[in-house]
Amino acid sequence: MHILHVVGARPNFMKAAPVLRALASKPGVRQTLVHTGQHYDRIMSDVFFQELEMPQPDCNLEVGSGSHAQQTAAILRAFEPVVIERKPDLVLVYGDVNSTVAAALVCSKLGFPVGHVEAGLRSRDRTMPEEINRLLTDQLSDLLFTPSPDGDENLLHEGVDRSRIHLVGNVMIDTLVRLLPRSEQHRRANLAAPYVLVTLHRPSNVDDLPWLRELLATLAELSQQLTVVFPVHPRTRERLTDLSLKGFTADAGSHPRLQLLDPQPYLDFLALQRGAALVITDSGGIQEETTFLGVPCLTVRENTERPVTITMGTNQLVGRDLQKLRKAAAEILRQELEDGPKQARTEKRGTETQHRPPCHIPLWDGHAAERIAEIVLRRGTP
Ligand code: UD1
Repeated sequence: MHILHVVGARPNFMKAAPVLRALASKPGVRQTLVHTGQHYDRIMSDVFFQELEMPQPDCNLEVGSGSHAQQTAAILRAFEPVVIERKPDLVLVYGDVNSTVAAALVCSKLGFPVGHVEAGLRSRDRTMPEEINRLLTDQLSDLLFTPSPDGDENLLHEGVDRSRIHLVGNVMIDTLVRLLPRSEQHRRANLAAPYVLVTLHRPSNVDDLPWLRELLATLAELSQQLTVVFPVHPRTRERLTDLSLKGFTADAGSHPRLQLLDPQPYLDFLALQRGAALVITDSGGIQEETTFLGVPCLTVRENTERPVTITMGTNQLVGRDLQKLRKAAAEILRQELEDGPKQARTEKRGTETQHRPPCHIPLWDGHAAERIAEIVLRRGTP
């Protein structure tokens, strides 16, 4: 059986890696890995292949950056001849990035079966490009692998046939479970707890310059109390340049404890998350990872496609309300100081993680990819 995987952007790599591994051990399976080149910098792509021990892509479409239409169109054009030539029995696509929807569209038009890993998530916010990608990819896919029961409900509600939906759990957590012990060696020696970890890259936060300026001012304010570590996505870095906010650099005299870093490799970032007193983010995956790790998270968005992170109690949506952000952060940090240093708590959690994750979400157990492999093989060649 020939399975072709499509990856393109940073969050895809953590999702595809465990599925590639699970299928590699199965007899009679041949795999092809296509990288669209949506992300292309070493720190946004290559370093993940190394750390996640992924095979090098068999083919890189090198589409690069562009508007949504340009990027999606470039993938459609470049990917079509690859599928026609390689004739896979199944194409697996991951998550909700432009590469995901583009690959699914090509395959469904040509009649190649598609499996969507991380299906069914919905923010119900169609201003998010990822929401459009999720809706369309799920409609185009033959197999829908969901991470949590809300995904199944969303798909059923949209009229997807139950027989196509498979609740398998969270593949991103598979990667986390496997690499958490290794991340221990990637702790930043010169970063003392407690600290706050920040990531922001959504267009709704970083393309709105007055809002970005206010957000940064709030982070700078927070950094008067404790260290704030902020690995900056290339999109965000561009906006900071637009804003001429170079005063907000790590060595800036006015905000010495607001540290702007380059995007971090997987193991370094995992170590940062694990040791953080608080994470402030607009990422989807980080909401899930902090939930698994039991680290408090404030999400700078009005909605989330990952409601389980809210119901588990680790994640709160603060929307575009900076007062709410300040208040929630102060409350979390007050508790943090009362409970003692986070480092001690997370270390305890760290040893437990292999057997008993701090947040018990069914099927977020490190074995989601194995379940996908079983289903794919059971289904066999059409
Ligand atoms: C994409 C995904 C988003 C995901 C994010 C993770 C879509 C619609 N969005 O957003 O869901 O959370 O990846 O990072 O697919 N750039 C570089 N080097 C790179 C890649 C990008 O400098 O290797 C810069 C370019 O200026 C580019 C910008 O980052 O224009 C944005 O990249 P793009 O892939 O368009 O979207 P992301 O914001 O990364």
